[in-house]
Amino acid sequence: MLSNQTNDGGKRTSLHGHWSSRMAFILAVTGSAVGLGNIWKFPYIAGQNGGGAFVLVYLLCVVLIGMPVMMSEILIGRRGRRNPVATMQLLGKEEGSTGAWKWVGVIGVLAGILILSYYSVVAGWVLTYVVKSVTGTFTGQSAEVVSAVFNQFTGSWKSVVAAHTIFMALTVFVVARGVERGLEQAVRFMVPALLLLMLALLGYAISTGHFMEGVAFMFTPDWGKLGWNSVLAALGQAFFTLSIGMGAVMAYGAYLPEETSITGASAAVVVADTSIAILAGLVIFPLVFANNLSPAEGPGLVFHTLPLAFGQMSGGVLFSTVFFVLLSFAAWTSALGLVEPAVAWLVEHFHKTRAQAAVIIGTLIWFIGLGSALSFNVLGDVRFLNGTIFDNVDYVTSNVMLPVGGLLIVVFAGWIMCRNSTAEELGSAGTLYRIWRVLARYLAPIGILMVLGKAVGLF
Ligand code: PHE
Repeated sequence: MLSNQTNDGGKRTSLHGHWSSRMAFILAVTGSAVGLGNIWKFPYIAGQNGGGAFVLVYLLCVVLIGMPVMMSEILIGRRGRRNPVATMQLLGKEEGSTGAWKWVGVIGVLAGILILSYYSVVAGWVLTYVVKSVTGTFTGQSAEVVSAVFNQFTGSWKSVVAAHTIFMALTVFVVARGVERGLEQAVRFMVPALLLLMLALLGYAISTGHFMEGVAFMFTPDWGKLGWNSVLAALGQAFFTLSIGMGAVMAYGAYLPEETSITGASAAVVVADTSIAILAGLVIFPLVFANNLSPAEGPGLVFHTLPLAFGQMSGGVLFSTVFFVLLSFAAWTSALGLVEPAVAWLVEHFHKTRAQAAVIIGTLIWFIGLGSALSFNVLGDVRFLNGTIFDNVDYVTSNVMLPVGGLLIVVFAGWIMCRNSTAEELGSAGTLYRIWRVLARYLAPIGILMVLGKAVGLF
């Protein structure tokens, strides 16, 4: 994926090499974007926030805020060509501001570490469900049994910690060996395969006879139900699912060849990511209504609905296994994006090898992740602010750190960087550029500030 040939006509080049092609970059960013956020998190957050109005606000956030933030992140990354901390510091000075912008990179590194700490726990559940699928655990089972299987599994701290450990080990292994080339191939196959499987599941969801109930739940807005907290959840979900606001896309942008169109690449990623999330919702909500489950079930939602459906369809063991294998891959490629800022920083700033950096960061994340792993069993009664440790890490990262990081990134690209710099990166100063600039300077920052302010009751 990363070739060491740098052909930048005398411009800055990245220490870590460059993507071999435009497609390689799009695949890596798509691999980072498409993950548990689309299939596990989107349906459960949408369900908890009442569907309809939430989904529409989420879509608005993706297009009007997510897209300009993503473009800003990539262009900053490519211009700086370093890890997010060093890039922000360098560009801060170069653009006549201050090196203190490096703190945006530092917040991003921390956000990535915290997100992966609980993301790995859920990815561990997915790995476990591969095994449960193969062994036919769900074949012909009722909703009660499927729920009991989930509760029993997450209730056992040993099982959850073991699965979390395996997932972190897999992540460290790939980052350490730098075998991203293999993963690039995996993404090339995984995203279309996941789409196909979701379409097949959509067929099943339609056959339940409750499809229109699901559609109505997702798209009929009841604005009265939508508080500012739900709007913040929609904004946070937009950032989370697009992998923006914490430097993942910035780190990947650092390896992007000069001639690639940032606007085109961003649009491709946003469309792929959003389609998969919406499809997931269209599959899950009809199943929820067909089986009298609650859409507001929480983090277990997908694990209660999909295995139940697989258990009832013919060829379910095969479908279920393939589905959870694909979802494991999706989580894996996302995990790489989550650690890349931290790893690149350790390599450049502290002169570690990639392998050392991967082990150090991986161990730290594994350790922090224990708090989330134990939130479903021994530490289940430890509750503060938004709930368990798991709930709080999730809330703070998605709803505070990513939006704040995204705000600073978009303000930097829109206000601190001079017009020539951004125009050069985005190619020409045409209509698309002008739209980006209006969104980046006004709409996105004002939107983020307003949602954050309203949600905490500032105004
Ligand atoms: N976007 C990923 C998902 O939807 C999660 C992620 C967030 C990955 C931030 C990298 C950076 O699962």
